[in-house]
Amino acid sequence: MTLPSKRILLIISGGIAAYKSLDLIRRLRERGASVRVILTKAAQQFVTPLAAGAIAGERAFTDLFDAVTEFDIGHIRLARDCDLVVVAPATADLMAKMAGGHADDLASTVLLATDRPILIAPAMNPVMWSHRATARNLAQLQADGVKTVGPNAGEMAEAGEAGTGRMAEPLEIVAAIERLLAATGTPRGILSGQSILVTSGPTHEAIDPVRYLANRSSGKQGHAIARAAAEAGAAVTLVSGPVKLPDPPGMKVIHVESARAMLAAVEAGLPADAAVFAAAVADWRVAEAGTQKTKKTTAGPPTLSLVENPDILATVAKRKTDRPRLVVGFAAETERVVEYARAKLARKGCDWIVANDVSKESGVMGGDRNTVHLVTARGVEAWPSQSKEEVARALVARIAEALKVPATPVK
Ligand code: C5P
Repeated sequence: MTLPSKRILLIISGGIAAYKSLDLIRRLRERGASVRVILTKAAQQFVTPLAAGAIAGERAFTDLFDAVTEFDIGHIRLARDCDLVVVAPATADLMAKMAGGHADDLASTVLLATDRPILIAPAMNPVMWSHRATARNLAQLQADGVKTVGPNAGEMAEAGEAGTGRMAEPLEIVAAIERLLAATGTPRGILSGQSILVTSGPTHEAIDPVRYLANRSSGKQGHAIARAAAEAGAAVTLVSGPVKLPDPPGMKVIHVESARAMLAAVEAGLPADAAVFAAAVADWRVAEAGTQKTKKTTAGPPTLSLVENPDILATVAKRKTDRPRLVVGFAAETERVVEYARAKLARKGCDWIVANDVSKESGVMGGDRNTVHLVTARGVEAWPSQSKEEVARALVARIAEALKVPATPVK
């Protein structure tokens, strides 16, 4: 697998080469990548969302103003929840829109909203390709950092037309993607042979069969860590509470709801070389969850009595047998972040704490960026504000370094 856990957002625009994009999806998935597809209106004249979705294993996206999609995912998340945006085929029209910064449909809006690298595979009639307008747009896109693959010379779909304008073949596009992602991703193999357990997301604590207590954790940071560890070659088990994120490919994912179920899944996942506890576990659960829906009565609202949940991080960190060599906790604080993190390190018995400021102003909860401090027995490191993926990659690099020294305790 050359693209393990990589997330590709593939935008298909309207040209006859669009049929080859279905093969591209298949080739990418064979290599371990997950592929999300957006089709422009014109693309749907050549391939259907149903065909693209069936091959991608996930519904294809087509409309900017689709109420369901916007509620479920949203165009900003589509633009950001990926490692690379690939436009194949890229028509002359879509290239012109990109160069001009237009945003009047889902594809162009996502291309303007993304902060990820973009690769385009142009495909058009040779006269359109050699037109000065297209050359101007291409020069602008290249100046903006957009990478290109192709087009190739050869026969066109139109009888008797030949020249440069054929879309690069799917395997050439795959090779360009592999080169690009190798340059931006986690160094491959730094965790090969190591097993990593990660918890992520919130927990839901039942009040009765239809109601629960929960928190606002999105699972983005925990999932990003699991993905970065898998990309670095680790055997990853991700224990996830209820989240809206897709399961990252290339790892074992165990879905749980409650803190107690999460603890059981974590214990079943041991031994592991390192464990990262990024889940926002509910501190309390309802002492006696109803087995039937609690009815509204004239006697007034019910009183919920709460009991403490097991502390999964502390339980694992204090184990006598099968304790991972490196146990990493998170500390989400709204004030005195480092001071509280230091206290937590001692109280929970873990090796490192990744401390982050989740005050409302920081926008971390549910957001895409994170500013963290890494607190170890040796001291405190302040990391720059980075995307959650970058935090994940930096943490994975540190974990790989720490695990290199097997016999001594990692501090
Ligand atoms: O004590 P606090 O909830 O702030 O600690 C946060 C850290 O402890 C996180 O790493 C979280 O995943 C972990 N934790 C846990 N089980 C709990 C509570 C927190 O594993 N019941």
